[in-house]
Amino acid sequence: MKIVIGCDHAGFFLKEKIRDFLQSEGYEVIDVGTNSLVSVDYPEFGFKAIERILNKEADRGILICGTGIGMSIFANRFPGIRAALCHEPFSAQMARRHNDANVLVLGGRMIGDGLAIEIVKAFLTTEFEGGRHERRIKLIDDLFNKFFNR
Ligand code: RB5
Repeated sequence: MKIVIGCDHAGFFLKEKIRDFLQSEGYEVIDVGTNSLVSVDYPEFGFKAIERILNKEADRGILICGTGIGMSIFANRFPGIRAALCHEPFSAQMARRHNDANVLVLGGRMIGDGLAIEIVKAFLTTEFEGGRHERRIKLIDDLFNKFFNR
């Protein structure tokens, strides 16, 4: 599984930890930055990651900003992206099982490294259940397309 990871300055330290963890577990990782504590705008780095998923260059994404809120709002603007902001592993597990989330969002100022790694593990190892959840996910796109006359 190929994973793209991106962050702003507030997510930089956690991004480094998670990237190293993923690589040590054998995942192929695309790190789109940012790569320092210099202040940047989270949509810029969110986009660098999201476009890899939309272009099918990565299977899943992990985005990190201070709270995770800005990255979530941004990522969920894009049809085909289902981004889940999680502060504990159960949410990450359910985001996979019921929502087929393809992007995990974390708050670098909200949680510690150990907890973040457990959330990442849950996100990457839990399968989508399909069935009625497939219908509901399709409904998200259908209603979006209906409203925007697509
Ligand atoms: C940056 O200070 C902060 O606003 C950003 O990382 C994020 O938390 C926005 O939602």
